[in-house]
Amino acid sequence: MSNDQQFKEFLAFSQHRVENSLKDYLPSTERPPVRLHEAMHYTALGPGKRIRPMLVYAVGQALNIPLERLCAPASAVELIHAYSLVHDDMPAMDNDDLRRGRPTCHVKYDEATAMLVGDALQTLAFHILSIDEAGKFSAETRLKMIEQLAFASGSRGMCGGQAIDLDATGKSLDLVELENMHIHKTGALIRASVKLGAFADEQLDTATLKKLDHYAKCIGLAFQIRDDILDIEGETSTLGKTSGKDAANDKPTYPALLGLEGAREKASDLVEDALAQLSSFDHCADPLRGLAEYIVKRQH
Ligand code: IPE
Ligand code: IPE
Ligand code: MG
Ligand code: MG
Ligand code: MG
Repeated sequence: MSNDQQFKEFLAFSQHRVENSLKDYLPSTERPPVRLHEAMHYTALGPGKRIRPMLVYAVGQALNIPLERLCAPASAVELIHAYSLVHDDMPAMDNDDLRRGRPTCHVKYDEATAMLVGDALQTLAFHILSIDEAGKFSAETRLKMIEQLAFASGSRGMCGGQAIDLDATGKSLDLVELENMHIHKTGALIRASVKLGAFADEQLDTATLKKLDHYAKCIGLAFQIRDDILDIEGETSTLGKTSGKDAANDKPTYPALLGLEGAREKASDLVEDALAQLSSFDHCADPLRGLAEYIVKRQH
């Protein structure tokens, strides 16, 4: 089987696996409050790429971690991501009405429900990590995962990045400020996804963790640079979200600052740096290598 074919199978397998876990973890839509639970399903199970859970599974493969230990961290990072999209799309933030090819949560339901969906998906992520039985983690490991995810999602991570983004709208940022915004609003959760996966190996040495963290830092930034590029180059129908919104909202982005070619070069330099961190890993790290490439080549 070619490397390409193997990677495609890895993507399909991880998507399927995390979606099944999410279905298990989400409260039934028959349980009241039904409308809130339906909106949570609509949001969390919508057709996303599941890149953050894929990173958890890819780290798991690289470190030979049994799959059942990865379900809770993989689902938790996807739930935080799904919540962040609901709030990001609301009128007070980016005011988008299309997400994953469908009406955004506040359009399909209403703003108050969208706020609650975000709140409830976020708390579900931490609930899952705290109760996970399948993972058989020590209490210390669970706490480490919760601490890491909380830090990455909060005001010194993703929420902080979103605050910088809102504040920067209509202003120009220099490259250092722009990088700071991107590594917080998007990079922090991607970095946490890799770390949570790595924490599932309770014997992991610090040198390996450090390499994985550097890998994650690079691809996290590359991911948002690609998102900025796609906002210009992509078609709404392929992206599943309205293209051209960054320019329309006067958001600072990498292409706005470096031009499309400059942004592409920056993203591919980051991927090179990410791949260099994996040089001492064997073929089991191929999904991690594949994901680094995929992040900058993806069309949506
Ligand atoms: C979009 O993330 C939001 C950003 C952080 C740039 P994704 O591109 O991973 O969105 P989905 O989950 O595939 O819809
Ligand atoms: C969103 O960044 C980052 C988070 C949701 C934390 P964007 O605003 O660029 O994401 P899209 O383009 O709407 O998916
Ligand atoms: Mg935004
Ligand atoms: Mg947005
Ligand atoms: Mg964007």
